[in-house]
Amino acid sequence: MPLVNPLGMLQAARQGGYCVGAFNLVDFLTTEAIVQAAEAKRSPVMLQTSSATVKRFGIKNIVQMARMAAENSPVPVALHLDHGTDRKVIGEAIRGGYTSVMFDGSKYPLPENAARTREIVDEAHAHGVSVEGEIGVVAGVEDEIVIHQDKAIYTTPDEALEFLRLSGVDFLAAAIGTAHGFYKVQPRLDIDTLRKLAHATDCPMVVHGGTGLPDDVVRQLIAAGAAKMNVSTQIKQTYLDGLHGYIESHRTEYNPLKLLDHARQELVAMIGRYMEVFGSAGRA
Ligand code: 13P
Repeated sequence: MPLVNPLGMLQAARQGGYCVGAFNLVDFLTTEAIVQAAEAKRSPVMLQTSSATVKRFGIKNIVQMARMAAENSPVPVALHLDHGTDRKVIGEAIRGGYTSVMFDGSKYPLPENAARTREIVDEAHAHGVSVEGEIGVVAGVEDEIVIHQDKAIYTTPDEALEFLRLSGVDFLAAAIGTAHGFYKVQPRLDIDTLRKLAHATDCPMVVHGGTGLPDDVVRQLIAAGAAKMNVSTQIKQTYLDGLHGYIESHRTEYNPLKLLDHARQELVAMIGRYMEVFGSAGRA
């Protein structure tokens, strides 16, 4: 089917007590693997791209890749711009076929973040595209965005509600202590803030930094109101480990199709496991 606006799937997830995985693609193989995992698990899914992936391929080619993977699929697939910071790129994504965009204005003070986000919300909504905003600062490394742990800023429920009211975003990433990349130390999560926020609003909540969270923590986050969970680092690790492992055990086989197929299958299995833990399996 055509790419869908993810708002409906995220609202259904909030109401149904599960969350939808938003997986970062890095090329067509990962795009295919994410959609195939969703088909195998009958799960709604979000494809998303970092700024680095957008720089590498351009908006037009990414939209083509996502449409190709989604068009013959019976499950709903959305295409989301992750951590958009460049106003021009966000505009191109909105007009070019993305079905949702994130504006990451977390470096600005709240009123400025909200005002800049509001502008994007108005443009996006005019094109049938939904918007994710961020309040507080998520630590870690997401391709080109590097935030050290001591610069992470936890959101308070009051700030987040004020941001929601001023910005009009459709779904909200509130910084509650999860981080991009592998966790080197046990994260200090503020699940209570997520729970309070979710009680105070219908807005679907987004959790960044899905890689490396134990299953029981993921379930607690979902029970507290998380409706979208981002996974990026684990995609890259499984992809590269799949390639390395196959090459090491097939040093004299020069068959790229077999090599790539091995990595794709590893990705489909790993992403499918996330969908089981997220509870989105069987929801499409
Ligand atoms: P991980 O790389 O930790 O999975 O985080 C992904 C993310 O939140 C992308 O925005």
